[in-house]
Amino acid sequence: MGWPILGTLPQMGSLAHRKLAGLATSLRAERLMAYSLGAMPVIIASHPDTAREILCGSAFSDRPIKESARLLMFERAIGFAPGGEYWRRLRRVAATHLFSPRRISDQEGLRQHVAEEMVRRVWEEMEEKGVVEVKGILQEGSLRNILEGVFGNCKGSEREELGNMVKEGYELIVKFNWEDYFGFKFLDFHGVKRKCHKLAAKVKKLVGQIVEDRKRRREFVRVEENENDFLSALLSLPKEERLGDSDMVAILWEMIFRGTDTVAILLEWIMARMVLHQDIQSIARQEIHMCIGQRSHVRDSDIPNLPYLQAIVKEVFRLHPPGPLLSWARLATHDVHVDKLFVPAGTTAIVNMWAITHDSAIWEDPWAFKPERFMEKEVSIMGSDLRLAPFGAGRRVCPGRALGLATVHLWLAQLLHSFVWLPVEPNVGVDLSECLRLSLEMKKPLHCQVIRRSQLYEACN
Ligand code: HEM
Repeated sequence: MGWPILGTLPQMGSLAHRKLAGLATSLRAERLMAYSLGAMPVIIASHPDTAREILCGSAFSDRPIKESARLLMFERAIGFAPGGEYWRRLRRVAATHLFSPRRISDQEGLRQHVAEEMVRRVWEEMEEKGVVEVKGILQEGSLRNILEGVFGNCKGSEREELGNMVKEGYELIVKFNWEDYFGFKFLDFHGVKRKCHKLAAKVKKLVGQIVEDRKRRREFVRVEENENDFLSALLSLPKEERLGDSDMVAILWEMIFRGTDTVAILLEWIMARMVLHQDIQSIARQEIHMCIGQRSHVRDSDIPNLPYLQAIVKEVFRLHPPGPLLSWARLATHDVHVDKLFVPAGTTAIVNMWAITHDSAIWEDPWAFKPERFMEKEVSIMGSDLRLAPFGAGRRVCPGRALGLATVHLWLAQLLHSFVWLPVEPNVGVDLSECLRLSLEMKKPLHCQVIRRSQLYEACN
């Protein structure tokens, strides 16, 4: 359907997840819809059954690669590498040395340290300006957390430079490039390719230099037992598994790129909901207080005892999934049937997770913010239940999901334990408008006020 040659490209607009959900409902095509984006054939699933067939079946194990992603080196990293031996090796290395339960638990101190730093920054901003803009604080915390997990200590100047590169990469990867849809190499009207080349060169230089410095240091200094960052692990791999220098740069850069914004964007939505629903915030704070008492720091081991806090995170994933279209599509590597319909090799498949999580046939009262729904029944968000799969599912499910969740839970608990979060003006709501870029962000950054927990208790007594 759609225009000649252009297909449905002109109709997509800025909130494609909503447009596509509306189309699927009006055409009664929730299970499967087919259309063209330029010259690219696409199918889209807005139902858990067809979503499972796409995400968990073997036919869709590749991803269509955008020119910008290829130029930014992601083709040699996990996310866009074709699903063969090289991709399996990368996933295995990352699963063992960055995302294993032991690695995640080793990094608890870092997560707590960054949480403390964020609490300090929130209070400073409140005292200086009388209002807190959380987005910048969360982004900085997230960047620091991932950089130290990946590189160990990182110099302030390097951190700033890498942060700017991540921002620039985000801008470029979402820029519209006609070539992605029509395959003609001369259609780069926006200069995306030129800018990607420039950025990739900067990344190679800086990340390459960090790798070189570390290699040199390891020649002279004995590897410290507690050197447990991802770069050290990559350099310690046995010879037959070791990655070449440029592949190592690609995977390190990918982790920084993906690990920074997803967590910050999700937490901004959660804090917006906390400001908007004071009653729910207060129940969550009571739960935290009951669990950790007078202690000032929340620990990872407290999280299993905070079911309401976990339910809040799930409810935000449901209403504001950071990847409403799961961010990265899949590509059919061979002819296949989905829902008994023939899908030729080379078709791009998209899952509209946002449509599924807002479907009234699946969720009771789907537009209401009700964490309680997850207290009543257990719903896993790790990829086994396609009614709510914000990390995708199947062989290409997000490998960073356990790390991402450990970070979000700990930081949310610490932020709620430290402050009461309030709207800037009493009785004025929070603007929940969306902006879909690579992730689904808040269109207007959240501004709010905080009161220290200690002040609250003084006032109560
Ligand atoms: C709130 C946090 C996060 C969300 C919502 C999220 C979401 C996603 C989604 C939807 C996918 C596509 C899955 C699919 O196709 O089935 C994905 C893939 C991926 N994510 Fe995440 N992610 C998060 C955090 C992270 C973190 C912290 C990292 C790394 C530090 C990471 C690294 C990756 C990688 C490497 C892939 C590609 C996997 C592959 O193609 O084999 N993610 N993520």
